Amino acid sequence: MVVENMGLDHVAIKVRDIEESVAFYRNVLNMEVSDRIGDRVAFLRTPNVAAESQHHEMNITQMSDAELEALEERGERDLDLHDFAEDLPEDGPPMLPTTGPIYHIAFEVPDFEALEAAKDGLQEQDHPVYRGTGRHGPGNNFYLYFPDPDGYPIELTANMEDAPEEGGRPARRWPTEPETWNVWHDSEELKEE
Ligand SMILES: [Fe+2]
Repeated sequence: MVVENMGLDHVAIKVRDIEESVAFYRNVLNMEVSDRIGDRVAFLRTPNVAAESQHHEMNITQMSDAELEALEERGERDLDLHDFAEDLPEDGPPMLPTTGPIYHIAFEVPDFEALEAAKDGLQEQDHPVYRGTGRHGPGNNFYLYFPDPDGYPIELTANMEDAPEEGGRPARRWPTEPETWNVWHDSEELKEE
């Protein structure tokens, strides 16, 4: 062991428009601003994290003008998140569209019903939903995926199985097939629990 790691603490992302992102994480994901640095950085927390006296779990940093110009030159500054939803492949591993190397950021919700409620709420706002609800093989968790304003996929997850240290099953290598990503793939099986 090199590091006495106590767990993932926070994630920092660069965004096209910090105010739009703060509004999204506030209004959709029920987060609040803990602090700001000028008009370039906002630190965000969920209610659970606030209750544990932790300052933040996300850092949202405004892209610089040079970074925005680089996006502009590549035709990637203005996004239509609905376009991405239409690009989802029909077969093969159900990968998510994303606008950068961050593949997704996951937040825990209480149960499957919370995922379904989130899906309804997003659809009422005409916000695209990428995948779900579904259930992953590894972790056995329920999921829902949708993009944040920069196209970084957000995952909502519930009922993750226990780790081996807590009585869960030992690590295994899963096959690269759609059922690994979603155990309900092509199945009529309905969710229980
Ligand atoms: Fe995930």
